[in-house]
Order: sequence, then structure tokens, then C-alpha cells
Amino acid sequence: MPQIYYLPDQRLVTADDAETILETSVVSGIPHTHVCGGSARCSTCRVWIVEGLDCCAPRNDAEQSLAHRLGFEPRIRLACQTQIFGEGRITLRRLAFDAEDAETLDAQQSIHDVASPFGEEKQIAILFADLRQFTSFSELLPAYDVIYVLNRYYRRMGKIIEQCGGMVNNYMGDGLMALFGLDEPDGATHRAVQAAVEMQEAMSIFNSYLDSLYRRHLQVGIGIHFGQVVVGSVGSSSKDRRITAIGDAVNYASRIEAATKRVGAKILISEEAYTQIWQTVKVERQCKLDIPGKSGQYTLYEVGDIERQTRIIQNVDLSTHRSSPLLFRQRIHLFIRHLKAGLKRFLSRFL
Ligand code: FES
Repeated sequence: MPQIYYLPDQRLVTADDAETILETSVVSGIPHTHVCGGSARCSTCRVWIVEGLDCCAPRNDAEQSLAHRLGFEPRIRLACQTQIFGEGRITLRRLAFDAEDAETLDAQQSIHDVASPFGEEKQIAILFADLRQFTSFSELLPAYDVIYVLNRYYRRMGKIIEQCGGMVNNYMGDGLMALFGLDEPDGATHRAVQAAVEMQEAMSIFNSYLDSLYRRHLQVGIGIHFGQVVVGSVGSSSKDRRITAIGDAVNYASRIEAATKRVGAKILISEEAYTQIWQTVKVERQCKLDIPGKSGQYTLYEVGDIERQTRIIQNVDLSTHRSSPLLFRQRIHLFIRHLKAGLKRFLSRFL
């Protein structure tokens, strides 16, 4: 007879063959919300099948219709409609405990297919990128210019990350975090490292632009790790929900990015990431480092290049930037602004 392991209760119960999940819950005294009484009209009985989906009968018409309307992915099942069979074990999580939970689930379900309700463990590649010396750079510029430069930088980097199949899920001042493999875990590390290499290439184009406008250069340090995280969508309302990843792997990727400063590298990747792409990556050097918050030493690899799967950087003719009317106007604007500030300082001495 099939067995059901209930989460978060951590209770294992034995079901009768062909019984529905909801019937098993009720018979076993496990509290299970079922607002419509089990007629596939409310979805409050829904469960997330963590494992053992093959022990569940396919959706009947009533469940199929509701699942289609609410955009449920295959592992979300209506407990009142789902019959279970065989000798296997099903692990499931009840998703709605009250009306507020049901509302949250509806909002979560409508946002992203890649983030399951209440989080899901996934193996992904995590990329952290941080602009070095941006604080001193930004102190020299008016705040409007800082925002302008940051947005231009984020636009370029975001495009590369997206084209490599990643998703930027967090901006932190002058840093960003991107996730690869949320939809498709195969090749996630390769795509993350390719994005990093192409971000560095894009940075040299971006620096030509910064040089022509502000006579300044910036550098970006990038750290990548591949590991297990819990991915979920968070936020106070459906409008501000976003996907996030939590776990040691995320912290480690962030520390690897921080280590790029210590060793003077542009791209560092973890041993776990290297193991996946060693045949296609060009390593400049290998270093053993202490990582804050972790004991022992960790081997990191500085990446020089990687075999490209797609080429995404567009060659930009910088000469057209240098001579563009827009750039000319920007320079005149900056010149007038500096002139005004100097005049003001000069007059203040006599007034
Ligand atoms: S109890 Fe309403 S759909 Fe199952």
C-alpha cells in the first residue's frame, strides 16, 4: 500500500490503494484545508509533490481544468482529486493552511514558473559581480551622473546575462547577483562563466565610453560558484515579488567575488564550478585561499576565457560615440556645470 510522508508535520501514514490524498489526511487526523469540500472548485487542498509523483494518478478533468486556469505546474496537485496507487512513498507539502496562505499561493503561482511556492531546492550557478572603486568614482560625479552610469552599466551587463540564459535577481548598489540554471540546469556553469567573460569584454568597451566622458575607468570583479540553494519568490505583494536564492552556496559565491580583490583577478570560480567546465575553460592560475566564515582553505581558479557557445558581444564602433552629437552636448553640459561651480566659488570669496 502507498505511504505518504507529510511536510511540514514530518508524519508518515499508510494510505489505502486508490484513496485520494485528502481522504488519507482526514482518516489519519492530519489537518488539511479543503474549503469547497473536495469538489475541485477552490484549490485550498493543493499539495506540492516533493517526490513520488509517479504514484499519483494523472489529473482527472476537474483537476485539469482548475490546474490550467491557475497555471499549476505538474507537481502541484489537488489533494481531493489525486488518487494514489502502488507500493511507493510520496512526500508532499501542504501549501495552504488558511485563507491567507491560499492568497499568497495564488500570487506566487501567477509570477514565475521557475520559483515554486515556499521554495524549492535546486542546483544552480550563482554569479556575483561588483564594480571596484565605484565609491571613489561616484564621489567625483553629481548624483544624477552616478545613476546614469550605473543604469548604463546594468543595462549592458543584464543583457549579456540574459542572453547567456541567466537572470539578474538582485542589485546591491554597484553589485549584482545573477542565477543560472533555474529553468535548465544543464550547462548552467558554462553559461555563467561565458557571461562573466563577455561581461569583462563589455567592460573594456564601457571603459572607453567612461574615459571619453569622465576620464575614468572602472573594473569589475566576478565570482562564480555552482551549488545547491533554495529558490523561491519573496515580496509583500504580487507587484514586488521576485525570485531569490538562499543557502551557503550563495554566500560562498559572494565571498569568491570578494576574493577577486585580494588576488587581483577579474573572474574567479570555485572548485565545484571548475569541475563542470574544466574541458572548455582557460585557467590563468589556481590559488588556495582562506574564505571568511568558512574553515580551511579553498581552491579557486582564475578564468581567462571559455569556449563560446554563442557570441553575444556586439562590436561597438567607439569612434561614432566619440563624435556623436549627444556626447558633444554632454561634454558641453559638464563644462558649463564646472564653470558655474568655479564662478560661484570665486564670487563667494568677495560676498
Ligand atoms: S477541497 Fe477544494 S479543490 Fe480540493
